[in-house]
Amino acid sequence: MAMGRGKRGNEQDGKIRGWSLSLAWGDQPDSVAPYVPSPIPIVREMLDLAKAGPGDILYDLGCGDGRILFTAVEEYNVDEAVGYDLNSLMVKALKQKIKEKGLTDRIKVFKGNFFDVDLTPATLVTLYLTTSGNAKLRPKFERELNEGARVVSHDFPIQGWFTSKPDGDFYSFGSHKVYLYIVPMAYKKNASVMRSKGEEDRWSRVRRLFRSLDRT
Ligand SMILES: C[S@@+](CC[C@H](N)C(=O)[O-])C[C@H]1O[C@@H](n2cnc3c(N)ncnc32)[C@H](O)[C@@H]1O
Repeated sequence: MAMGRGKRGNEQDGKIRGWSLSLAWGDQPDSVAPYVPSPIPIVREMLDLAKAGPGDILYDLGCGDGRILFTAVEEYNVDEAVGYDLNSLMVKALKQKIKEKGLTDRIKVFKGNFFDVDLTPATLVTLYLTTSGNAKLRPKFERELNEGARVVSHDFPIQGWFTSKPDGDFYSFGSHKVYLYIVPMAYKKNASVMRSKGEEDRWSRVRRLFRSLDRT
């Protein structure tokens, strides 16, 4: 896959010639990644690792042609798949495809900046962005994602978070990497030692309190 291979091409190039990078990414100031689709076998690996299935509400941040959304609904039977992308033409084509497939009740797509979106409903977030894009999303994830939510990222890590892979950082599939994170263990090293129900309830109350303070 071209994006991010070898020299982490686009990010590296961006530091060298920032203005041309922004044009190459569609001249969208909010964009943190160009459009490059995840190969379908990698999409399946991501969804397998995250144990996607019934009960999940999946958010694909930067949904491109919607392949993760369709695979999640049609093959993994998630309850709902929600996608955001800045590219209005892609979103328009995607909406048409969702309609043709009769999936408007299960797949929702929006043209917009995912940094402006409330992520609290998500139980599973999929990413194929850049390391710097993931870093910008990280505080939002820590504020908004609920306990137990999974974040699965193709090729790019969330720096400073711990993956759930016990014996290493990422899963390898040929030249592709997949990073799996579980909230809040990903950023609270000692969260996994919360054992009693009482402690879990206390943790939920604290997170709710912080969220309500955030909104004021
Ligand atoms: C590498 S593609 C990934 C597409 C799809 N998720 C996949 O894995 O096949 C990244 C997508 O993120 C979109 N994107 C980048 N920054 C965005 C932002 N701030 N808000 C919404 N979409 C964004 C781009 O337009 C692009 O379509």
